[in-house]
Amino acid sequence: MNERRPAFASDAATARYYDRRAGEYDEWYRGEGRFAARDRPGWAHEVDTVAALLGSLPCATTLDVACGTGYLSRHLHGPVVGVDRSAAMVAIARARIGCAAVADALELPIADGGVERVFTGHFYGHLPNAERETFVKEARRVGAELVVVDSAMRPEQPAESWQQRTLNDGSSHWIWKRFLRPGELAAEIGGEPIFSGAWFVAARVRWR
Ligand SMILES: C[S@@+](CC[C@H](N)C(=O)[O-])C[C@H]1O[C@@H](n2cnc3c(N)ncnc32)[C@H](O)[C@@H]1O
Repeated sequence: MNERRPAFASDAATARYYDRRAGEYDEWYRGEGRFAARDRPGWAHEVDTVAALLGSLPCATTLDVACGTGYLSRHLHGPVVGVDRSAAMVAIARARIGCAAVADALELPIADGGVERVFTGHFYGHLPNAERETFVKEARRVGAELVVVDSAMRPEQPAESWQQRTLNDGSSHWIWKRFLRPGELAAEIGGEPIFSGAWFVAARVRWR
């Protein structure tokens, strides 16, 4: 599948999509709104399992990159700072995890070795190849370890494609999306799988 951005899905358009989605973003996790009608067997249990997994990781100062609303990183122990390109997401995350700022994931405003852990949820799988490598390099520059949570490969989904997303206001948007196998994710970041579910995968790499 060609990951090059089509004209209708510019980087600016993707940024606008997340800004508009911020207020309704958590409906995806909670199975509310448009997601209430989706048949997602085991979804709620798996969201809880991932939350428990994050809560079981050792206490660490964490940078949550592309934090969205902070729905996942609120379960981590230790101080968490979120960064996201969307001001609307950051406002929600700030209320939830205490500290969040607008910043670009590919150019983090953090000193070398500035945090013990970099965490990212459902961001890695939206990155095209070249940006994935940039992100992992940037995470390694600032953090001693990286934990990635993302979407698991599903039989009904292509492994990677441009997807059309509709928001509650009826607007539609295109985003690049990959569904991952745990071993594949772990190999790409150079670490180990730590979770393999029907809906989510997670991997962790310790660099220092
Ligand atoms: C699917 S959401 C994931 C939110 C959250 N991490 C989670 O697990 O629920 C993707 C997030 O990535 C953010 N994002 C996209 N590109 C970004 C970039 N270059 N730098 C920082 N944030 C970015 C979006 O604004 C959005 O909040």
